[in-house]
Formats: sequence, structure tokens, C-alpha cells
Amino acid sequence: MSELKYPHLFAPIQAAGTLFRNRIFASPEGFYNISPDCFPNADCNAFFEHKARGGFASVCLGDCIVDRETGRHYDWLFRIDDERSLPMFSSFTSAISRHGCVASAELSHAGMYALASYKETGKLYGPVEMDNKYGHVTEMSEEMIEYLIERYGAAARFAKQCGFGMVTIHGGHGWLLPQFMSSKINTRRDKWGGSFENRMRFPLAVVESIRKNVGRNFPIEFRMSGSETNPDGYDIDEGIEFAKALDQKVDIIHVSTGNHEVLEATVITHPSMFLPDGCNAQYAAAIKPHVKSPVATVGAFTDPAQMEEVIASGMADIVELGRQTLADPDLPVKARTGREDEINRCMRCCCCFGSTGEHRIFYCAINPTIGHELEERYDNGPKFKKKVLVAGGGIGGMQAALTAAERGHQVVLCEKKDRLGGVLVCEEEVPFKQKLAGYISRQILKISRAPIEVRLNTEVTPELIREVAPDAIIAALGSRPAVPPVKGIDGKNVFGAEEIYYDTSKAGENTVILGAGLVGMELGLTLAMQGRKVTILEMADAPNFGETGMHPISLGLELKKFGVEIRLSTMVTEITADGVEADGPDGHLSLPADTVIYATGQKPLREEAAALSDFAGEFYYIGDCVTPKNILTATQAAYTVARDIGRI
Ligand SMILES: Cc1cc2nc3c(=O)[nH]c(=O)nc-3n(C[C@H](O)[C@H](O)[C@H](O)COP(=O)(O)O)c2cc1C
Repeated sequence: MSELKYPHLFAPIQAAGTLFRNRIFASPEGFYNISPDCFPNADCNAFFEHKARGGFASVCLGDCIVDRETGRHYDWLFRIDDERSLPMFSSFTSAISRHGCVASAELSHAGMYALASYKETGKLYGPVEMDNKYGHVTEMSEEMIEYLIERYGAAARFAKQCGFGMVTIHGGHGWLLPQFMSSKINTRRDKWGGSFENRMRFPLAVVESIRKNVGRNFPIEFRMSGSETNPDGYDIDEGIEFAKALDQKVDIIHVSTGNHEVLEATVITHPSMFLPDGCNAQYAAAIKPHVKSPVATVGAFTDPAQMEEVIASGMADIVELGRQTLADPDLPVKARTGREDEINRCMRCCCCFGSTGEHRIFYCAINPTIGHELEERYDNGPKFKKKVLVAGGGIGGMQAALTAAERGHQVVLCEKKDRLGGVLVCEEEVPFKQKLAGYISRQILKISRAPIEVRLNTEVTPELIREVAPDAIIAALGSRPAVPPVKGIDGKNVFGAEEIYYDTSKAGENTVILGAGLVGMELGLTLAMQGRKVTILEMADAPNFGETGMHPISLGLELKKFGVEIRLSTMVTEITADGVEADGPDGHLSLPADTVIYATGQKPLREEAAALSDFAGEFYYIGDCVTPKNILTATQAAYTVARDIGRI
């Protein structure tokens, strides 16, 4: 009998003669902070190497394009069709495999959605001639199909030469191969379309070409959408048939879901915070009884116990993690060594997608090392140990205290209130913010285990600083709600967002919220989910979602579902006992409301922080007391400042 807590999760699995040390794979992820040549670089290697070091059995380099000229949906995708990249890919695979982890290359072509190629060449190619949202699609000729089959094979051969231990064929999410598989799209009349057999001809020929190039003893994983989860795509019944056709021709059938080009579906492919953990395992489970090849599942996994159950119950043989590998690349090691309560669980805030959209760099709100992995490698710790006083036990203060303590400094953490957590504690009861609540509790747990002296109900004053006598002070005092200067704002029916978050029963049945930022919209959704009528008024001409990647799509869909109305370019002129007077694009508005809530931003406690600055040699401001922003900004500043202490 296994002595492990998760024996199924940590049981090795073999495919095509390759041993995978456990059942936890890092799912394909692209990486866009790369050179103009689109080859892996040191930043890329360090990002993926951490997952290998953290115990994943396989790490997959996403979206390696097999034919750059016709197949790129985005400019910054790896070029596996260019053999100049040999040393860069080889250096990548070495960084992974030296940790006992299998490096995989995801071979991809976007077909009729190859937007970046289209921008360069003015041509889009797909199974059939049509017009899609990007432009005119030319039907692929037979020669082009044969050429691409050969390109997939050549890319796999090159991947093997570079040291990859597996290839993952991207046959999901609406790209080229599923375009051929789809009965709705692929109505060709030649041998490449129409009947099921004809529609599977191209994907199967790709598999065969790859097999010829890599041999029997080299695993081929096929990533497919079990269901495309939208009315224009295919459903799980068809997905099962595709999987049956691929069975035993590939070594792992990796069942993802959805379609990148359909908004409603892409927030299922990358499950939003409104969906439960492991929500897509049902598709792998539906396919599994029909095939002999091992089946992998993916989507919103964060909890080793749930992952163990998925494998133990036979829903799937392998669990693949995407965003969770950013939140905590050490998940496998922590789960295996009984430290699962320290695993940082992905909140699905989608800040990783937001930061890559803005900067082409992945950051993670709750893991400040992501995006800075190389710095970690060359960091030798502080030269001097110091006494550090952290003023404020919110998101930033907690991270600063933890990082400073980890680095051997003596830390005192003071919080004015009777508990740690700061302003976001007010959202702990919100159903779709349970991961945030978990994050706050976990930080508190880690603090309780660290050599940190916590003083609650303690305001940092000059007297307290003299008593503690720190070498360094980190001011993490936070912010206060900004009260908009509107006539009637002091009425009995008016509340700040934080107060309502703490106690939603204070809101009446008909609520108007001032401000369509994330706080206002998420509060509006919370109240609407409880059955209230909610209208949000915003002065600007667009809601402000911050850098949250796909979150705006899912939040927008939820707001629509629960009937929350957002009125843009609307300026409130007065709040009365009966509602709100405002000027909007169509003139004056009188909106009846029993409750008015302002969510119009936060005011930084800068002066309060500055008042502490003369009492220690080193003084740092972090988080909302500098500029109120978000969890990412607070944790990154906290981590960095705490790491800087004691260097000189
Ligand atoms: C940072 C990031 C990059 C991704 N890049 C790719 C990619 O290149 N190819 C791909 O097939 N999927 C890609 N995905 C999707 C993931 O592989 C995974 O299917 C998806 O995120 C759902 O899993 P999760 O809920 O564990 O994040 C990416 C996801 C993330 C978070």
C-alpha cells in the first residue's frame, strides 16, 4: 500500500516507452517575452524550468508554429519551422529534462484564424472558401494540405533533435485541425472533407507524418476540444467520435474544451472565476470509456485532493494545469510532501492574461516571482540581517513580512484592525471570490508559521517605532474609499462599496452604484445574484476592468445574465432620498433607487505613511498608500522591497 496521501496522482505513467514521474502535467503555455526571432530565451527557460523543478512530470512549450508564413494567429509564437533555433530550443529542453521532467513542444497552426500571418501576407487559409471575422479565407489546395502534413512531421523531427521528449499536437480550441474535423465548417467535396472519415483524414495524416519522423518510442499527445461548448461548434458526442478515431494512434489524448474565437467558449477553455474547479473534467470522463490511450483533463484545477479523485475515480489518467503553474509552480512537490496547505491556489483573476496583453510578460497577482524568474536564480540573499517593521497587514504588508522573514530578517508586522487581510477582507463572503478568501487565509497561515511578530489592534506611531527600533520600515498603510463630491452623498441611503460588501443586507431591492470599475461591477453582480435590481452609472465612456485579461469577458457575460445595467458617460448631479439625478448621453435622468453605493476609487494614505518616514534609516512605501491599484502591484512591490533590504 502506498504511503503517499495522493497515491494515484503520484503513480508514474508510461507512454511510448517514456516514463512520466507522476500524473501532473503543465499544460501548453506560450511565452511572449521573446526575441524578434521568436526563439526561446533565458527568461523563457527560467519560467518553464521552475515548473520542472517544482515536480511536474511534463512541461509543454505552447504554440510552436509549424508554418510561420500561413499559421500564426499572433506575432510572438515560437518558430519551430526555423532551424536557426536549434541551440535555443535545445537549451530550453535541457533546462526542463535535467530535472527529470519531460519537455513537450506543442505543434500548432491556426488555419483560417492565422491573423498575424494574414496581416503580413494578406492571405488566410482554411478547409473551405469563406469570409470570416478577419477576412477572406482561401480553400487549401491539395498541395498545401500535403505540404502542411509534411511541415508537422518536420517540426516533430526537429523537436526531437532539440531534445524534446514529446510533442503535443494542437488539435483543439478551433485551430486548423479542428477546422478540418468540424462537420459545420469542413464541407469540402474531395477526400479531405464531408464525411467523418474524410474530415479526420488530415489530422490522422498529421499524426502519421509525425510518427514517421519520430518513431514508435516517442510519445505523441493530441490536444483536442472534447466539446467546443458553443452552438456553432461540435458537441461531446462528436468529440467522442474524434477521440475514437485517434485512439492508439496517439499516446495521450488530452481533452480540453472550447474555441478561442468564440468569447462564450473561450471563458470555458480557460474557466473563469464563476466556474467551479475541475469544471471541464466531465469531457475527459465522457471520452475515457471509449478509448484505450491514456486521457488527460485540463481546466481550473488547483486542489491536489480533487486531482487525486479525478484519477482515482477513472475520470482521467492525467491532470494538466495551466494558470495554477503560475500561481504555484511547486504544487507537485508541496502536494507530495504534505505541504498542500501552503499551495498558492490560482484565483482565476486572469491577471496573467492581462499582463501579457499589455506587456507580453506573464505576471501573477499572487505569485510575485512570476515574470522575474531569472532574478531569483541569481539572488544570493541579503548581506545583512535587519530589523524590519511592516506597518499595515493588508495584501502588501503580509507579503512584505513573509518575504522579509524568509530572508532571515527580524520582522514585526503591525495592523490597526483586529485581523490581517486589509481592505479585501470585505469580499470574503462573495461566492465567486472564494479563492481570494483562501489566499488571504493562506497568507495568514504562512505568517503564523514564520518567525514574524504580529501585533494586531496596533497603529504604528512614532512612539511604537521608537520602542521597536527597526532598521527599516515598510509602510503598507493602504487607502480609504474616495467619497465623490455629489450633493446628497451624506444621505442615509448612501453607502461606500466596502460597507455593503461586509453586509449586503444593507442594500435595498433597487440599487444604483456609482462607478463601473471592477469594485463597482463585481459588487453590482453580487447584489444582482441575490435578486436585486442593479444599475451602475459611470462617468467615462467605458467600464474600467483594469489589466485583467479574460475576466472582462466572463464578468460582462455574468452581468448580462443577471440583468445588471451599466449606463456610461453618465454624470450624477444629485442623490436624493428616492434615487439619483444624472445627466447622460440622452439628457437628464431620474433613477429611482432605495440604496445608492459609491465605488469611485480609493484615496491613498500617503500623508499618514509619510509621517512615519523620519524614524528609521530605511523607509519604503508600497501598495495602495502609494497608488491604489490591485493585488499584483501590491504583492510585487512588497516582495521586491523586502528583498532589497539588507543588500547594502
Ligand atoms: C499563460 C498561459 C498561456 C497559454 N498558452 C497556451 C498555448 O500556447 N497553447 C495552448 O494550447 N493553450 C495555452 N493556454 C491554455 C492552457 O494550456 C490551459 O488549457 C488553460 O489555461 C486552462 O487551464 P487552467 O484553468 O489550468 O489555466 C495558456 C494558458 C495560460 C494561462
